[in-house]
Amino acid sequence: MKTIELHYEGKVAVVTGAASGMGLLASKELAAAGAKVVMCDVNAEALEREAAAIAGDSAVAREGGVAAPCPCDVRDWADAQKAAALALDRFGRIDLLFNFAGGNEARVCNSHVPFHEQPREVIDWGLDVNLRGPIYMARACLQAMVAQKGGVICLLGSVTGFEGDGNGAMYGTAKSGLFNFVKSLAKDGAPHGVRAFCVSPGPVLTRPGMAGMKTLLGRAAEPSEVVDFILYLASEKGAFVTGSNHVVDGGRLCISR
Ligand SMILES: NC(=O)c1ccc[n+]([C@@H]2O[C@H](COP(=O)([O-])OP(=O)(O)OC[C@H]3O[C@@H](n4cnc5c(N)ncnc54)[C@H](O)[C@@H]3O)[C@@H](O)[C@H]2O)c1
Repeated sequence: MKTIELHYEGKVAVVTGAASGMGLLASKELAAAGAKVVMCDVNAEALEREAAAIAGDSAVAREGGVAAPCPCDVRDWADAQKAAALALDRFGRIDLLFNFAGGNEARVCNSHVPFHEQPREVIDWGLDVNLRGPIYMARACLQAMVAQKGGVICLLGSVTGFEGDGNGAMYGTAKSGLFNFVKSLAKDGAPHGVRAFCVSPGPVLTRPGMAGMKTLLGRAAEPSEVVDFILYLASEKGAFVTGSNHVVDGGRLCISR
């Protein structure tokens, strides 16, 4: 049987949304594969706890993996610069940027009203975390990638970027913006050996509520089903992938509703 080996030993990764869900899982997987991971999240308490747990894992230490917490808000330009600077100061380069920080503003801000009633702060949160954040992070990290002639940027889209959402209207708007931004990143990065791709999941079981979303396969994804795909695309095995958006949705977008 052919085994697909993905090599991440010695790579330096910046991961946002690293304190929970898929960002945390990706951080664990990267560190276990021997990568040095700068874990970024606005939830400083959970971030410190999770980074310490990864750093204290003997299997991670054996592989040379490192987890460095970087409390930061991706909406803040200075914080994005801080995350990139931490990676460069401590590890000397940035090979990977995974942008997991995000969320539907209606859910996260607990504002389950239609768009025409959404408070401005909720609208701003949805746009800023889901669109401005990945743009700031990419701007902060891409410069180092261009200088070192290589790197990979992963954006997290969503099927909502195709479907829209009457309550969390900015979530889908921002995610569809990433479908275009990934092409610009690919065009900017290609002459310098930098790739960018977007992965757009359907429902993922990072919280129980996602089990209720319809898919053709009749279930939501396990977080590993999305993270493993990202780790494949970001590795040497995905070397021909850039500028594209990859839907991982159990056939949700095929369902006529
Ligand atoms: N879970 C799903 O069903 C699903 C489906 C489609 C797309 N996605 C996308 O995948 C990504 C990860 O989803 P998840 O369910 O694993 O997320 P999650 O909700 O478990 O974690 C998101 C993390 O982002 C952090 N965060 C929020 N605002 C931030 C900010 N301003 N700065 C830094 N960190 C911030 C949170 O503290 C949290 O730790 C998101 O972008 C999400 O939109 C998820």
